[in-house]
Order: sequence, then C-alpha cells, then structure tokens
Amino acid sequence: MKGIILAGGSGTRLHPLTLAVSKQLLPIYDKPMVYYPLSVLMEAGITEVLLITTPNDLPNFERLLGDGSKFGISITYKEQPSPDGLAQAFILGEAFIGNDPVALVLGDNIFYGAGFSDVLERAVHQVTSKNVAVVFGNYVKDPERYGVASFDTEGNLVGIEEKPEHPASNYAVVGLYFYPNSVIQVAKALKPSKRGELEITAVNQYYLAHKSLEMQLLSRGFAWLDTGTHEALTEATEFVKAIEKRTGLKIACLEEIALSQKRITREALYNGVQHLKGDYYDYIKEVVLRKETN
Ligand code: DAU
Repeated sequence: MKGIILAGGSGTRLHPLTLAVSKQLLPIYDKPMVYYPLSVLMEAGITEVLLITTPNDLPNFERLLGDGSKFGISITYKEQPSPDGLAQAFILGEAFIGNDPVALVLGDNIFYGAGFSDVLERAVHQVTSKNVAVVFGNYVKDPERYGVASFDTEGNLVGIEEKPEHPASNYAVVGLYFYPNSVIQVAKALKPSKRGELEITAVNQYYLAHKSLEMQLLSRGFAWLDTGTHEALTEATEFVKAIEKRTGLKIACLEEIALSQKRITREALYNGVQHLKGDYYDYIKEVVLRKETN
C-alpha cells in the first residue's frame, strides 16, 4: 500500500503564523506538525510516501524530510499548484500510486491512542483483502466543522455530509482514509463542489453508495487533535508535552518507529544522530542505547 500526505492549503485561519511558513511545518511541542501524520503512515506499515504541498513550501518539506532514508522509508514530493480539494491528491498522485491501494492522511491531523497500530493494521487488511474503503469516525462536540456520519437505528452508516448546518450525529470523519486503487478513477470523475473543491466526502459517498465503505469508530479515550486555530495549536502542544513528560516516551518519533520496525539499524541511526543536539536527538540516542542493552 502507498501513502499520501496532503500538506498544502493556504492556512489563512492561522495568519500571520502561516504567512511565511507552511501550517504543517509549525511546531507541535518538540517536532514539526507533519511528523505526526507521517508517523501514522509508518505505523500502518507503509514505506512509500508521497508528500503533496504548495510549490512554495515544497523545498522546506524536502529540507526537513529528505528522501525518507533517515526514517527507513522512501519519500517523494509533488506540487499542488492551488488548493482544489483533498480528492485531488489521487489525481496528482496517480503515477505514484500505480496499481496499489492507497492511504491518505491530512498533514494537519494528529492521532494518539493505545492500540492505534492494530486499528491501522486492520484497515490495511480490509482494503487489501476486501477491496473496500475504510474511514474513521470520532465523537466531537462541534461536528458542523467536519465531514459528519449518519447512522440508521441499527448503527449502520447510511450517509456522510460535508460541514452540515444540522449534523445528523456527533461523529466526525477524521483526516485519514484508506482506499482501493479505484479511488484514482473515482476522484477523476468528481465535479467541484459549491465551494469549488474536489471533496473527499464525495469520494466517501461514492464508496458508501457502492456498499464498499467501512467506518471504524475510534474508541473513547482516543485523541484526535485539531490544529485549525491558535487555541487548538497550543492545546495540541500541551497535550503532547504532558503525555511525553508523563510516559518518558515520545509521540511520533520517526526514527524510533523506523528502528522498532527494523527499517534502519541501530548503528546507522546512532551515526546519523550522534552529532545532533537537543532533546529530540538526546532521546533517540537513549533509545538506541536502551535497545542495545535489551
Ligand atoms: O480534518 C478532517 C476534515 O478534513 C474532514 O472531516 C472533512 O471532511 C474534510 O473535508 C477536511 O475538512 P477541513 O475543513 O479541515 O479541510 P481543509 O480545507 O482545512 O483542508 C485540510 C488540510 O488539507 C489542510 O491542512 C490544508 C490541506 N489542503 C486542503 C485543500 C483543500 C491541501 O493540502 N490541499 C487542498 O486542496
């Protein structure tokens, strides 16, 4: 399975923070925001990633992440000339996706919860073995800001609406989607919505209408963090800081994930970080030494 991170857009709601810097490069505590969604793709076992962003921001992402080899994966890049909608990712990514299924994660979505790797593993399995699309629903207080799921009396998913005025439920569709290869053709057949975008919700409605959409509800206690406002950004930083301090473990430490998946060796990792300074790299040095003694 291939993976796409969509990290473009204009970030206008966060101006002036995002006037000169891409939203997805802003810090969330001790690492840039894009580390979090990239960690999700890595946890799903994906090793080939395409990062789509604006022509302006692309060189900065490249400087940060390189070709992915320091995380034991491959990362390539593609420009999105203008923010014409989330579903455009599959059109821009057609050559990269090839004949494979694909996961899309939004570059500004942060996930944290016990057992998440199992959830991801299950999603990959459903898509590859059953040829269905898999999306996730999360209970929120303000569903009107998101894609919203509706259910029948037996709890079956019957509809998804984008930013409805009168939401049918409190379940928002999060920015992480798993699709069979047919998503390329589905995206190509879409017409722009009233707001002029190729909507991911329209893609999901297509799979639902064809009885090929599964929604997994994220369990209570699972955190799906918003980064859309100044307040939400600060809260995300505070959340990550609290968890990391309390557990002594880092969230979305890409090098640690690569090591635990045996995508890089301890030696290569240690050599890569030994001259680097700061808490993040001190942590990695500790991880390497800890693994050595285990
Ligand atoms: O976060 C989950 C929500 O994401 C879903 O519940 C909605 O169904 C989905 O439409 C989307 O809603 P948003 O209002 O959050 O989408 P937004 O336009 O803010 O775009 C999400 C991210 O994707 C943002 O970081 C910018 C980036 N983006 C957006 C567009 C439209 C791109 O890179 N390219 C684009 O063309």
